Formats: sequence, structure tokens, C-alpha cells
Amino acid sequence: MTAAPLLRTRALSVSYQTRRGSIDALSGVDLSVGEGEFVTLLGPSGCGKSTLLKLAAGLLAPTRGHIEVAGAPVDGPNRDIGVAFQKPTLLPWRTVLDNVLLPSQTAGERGDGAVRRARDLLDLVGLRDFADNYPRELSGGMQQRVGLARMLQRDPKLLLMDEPFAALDAMTREALTLELQRIWMRDRKSVLFITHSIPEAVMLSDRVLVMSARPGRVVEDFRVEIPRPRSMATLAEPAFTAAAEHLRRHFIG
Ligand SMILES: Nc1ncnc2c1ncn2[C@@H]1O[C@H](COP(=O)(O)OP(=O)(O)OP(=O)(O)O)[C@@H](O)[C@H]1O
Ligand SMILES: [Mg+2]
Repeated sequence: MTAAPLLRTRALSVSYQTRRGSIDALSGVDLSVGEGEFVTLLGPSGCGKSTLLKLAAGLLAPTRGHIEVAGAPVDGPNRDIGVAFQKPTLLPWRTVLDNVLLPSQTAGERGDGAVRRARDLLDLVGLRDFADNYPRELSGGMQQRVGLARMLQRDPKLLLMDEPFAALDAMTREALTLELQRIWMRDRKSVLFITHSIPEAVMLSDRVLVMSARPGRVVEDFRVEIPRPRSMATLAEPAFTAAAEHLRRHFIG
């Protein structure tokens, strides 16, 4: 059964106006992310993936077309949406705990509830003992974990993640990929995830949307039928290699 879509776009197009003319970044994108579904955008550099994410986050308005979250048109940043980018952009003068608390404080939420939730989330991402440290005292992977906790702090329904692990070394990246799967399986939030890594896409996704070169459109909606939880052992399974091979064919030649 497919649940009702939490995110839905129709004929979505974006053209950027620059001094050197107009750049068509997206052209007629139709996609949906169901309630509790993990969907990944895979596509060549410059095809409009980040643009699409910014539209969903309400940080950018479409040139044409329509985008809605939970049945309402997106018209600006929204508390039901959590975002994570390639760099976690933590505030260096705030402790880890205070960074995670930031979305609650921005929303005017005070009191013990927010602090308790932030501590639970630090527990969830394995940083219980680092609540009072400053970002500069953490490794890149640990900082990205703080970013994940902060993204979850206000319990958003939809997570938008733009290459959140791209800046990390391969081993940390694998570990965090599995950790994200674990967190997702616990909460089953809707996720729109961007990566350039085909194995990461197959490992995490219910569906992988393959995009064409700019102006981006969805050229394949590929369902990953591998049972969860997936693990490092999954990488060697025939179903995994077949899915990865299939997706890779889009980018050869
Ligand atoms: N603010 C902007 N002004 C003008 N052009 C832009 C702007 N942002 C993006 N573009 C152009 O729009 C296209 C899509 O950009 P976008 O960042 O969405 O691509 P992407 O798929 O996320 O690429 P990457 O995989 O490299 O992150 C690119 O050709 C880019 O040059
Ligand atoms: Mg991008």
C-alpha cells in the first residue's frame, strides 16, 4: 500500500535569472514522497537537485508549477520540515546541546521539554557525553551527527537532506549511513535525500529518482526491494549489486 504523499510536486520548473541570461535548472518535475517513505534524488552535478530541495524547504519559489507539503502549498520555511546540508553549519560559540536546542529557541519554545528532547537526540546519535563540548572539539562526523540531532529537534514530518555525508571520509560515511537508516526505521519520517553515491542511495532508499542532466527532470522512479535493516553484508548481495548496476547505467557514456 502506498501512503498519501507528504510531499508532492507538479510540473515544477525553475529558471534562474543571471547577468548572462536565464538558466533552466528544473523542467517539469513531478514527484512525490509518501508518508514515512525514504526517497533519494540521484543525478549528475548541476541537474537541479539542490534547487529542488530548496523549493521543498520554502527557501526558493518555483518559476512554474506547484509544490505542496502535507496538502498545503509551500510558501516559506515550515516547522514540519527539517533540513540538513553538506556542512552542518553549527554555531561555534554554542555548545553541542545549545546547537541542538537552537530550532526550539528560535520557535520560542522554552522549558524542560525541549532540553530533554535535545538530550535524547544526542543519545540517539551517540553524543551523550559531548553535550557540553563546543563544535570545534568534535570531528567532522561528530559535527554532522549534531546536525542530524538539530534537524530532528522539533520532530519534523519531512526531512530534506542535501548530501549530508559528502564531506566525510569513507568509513565515517558508511557508519553514518547505517545510523541514519536506524534512526529512520525508529521514527519512519518522510525523507528526501540527495547523494552522488549509488551504493548510499540503494542502501537507504525505498525509491531512487534518477534525474536527467540540466534542466533536470525525473527519468526513472526506481523501487529498491531489499528488506531492512540493510547492513554492510547487504552490499555483497546479488539484489544490491543488481540495483546498483541498474542505476549506474544511467551515468555511463
Ligand atoms: N542562485 C543561482 N543563480 C543562478 N544559477 C544557479 C543558482 N543556483 C543554482 N544555479 C544553477 O542551476 C543549476 C542547478 O543547480 P543545483 O545546485 O540545483 O544543482 P545540483 O544538482 O544540486 O548539483 P550538485 O550535484 O553539483 O550539487 C546549475 O546549473 C547551477 O549553475
Ligand atoms: Mg547540490
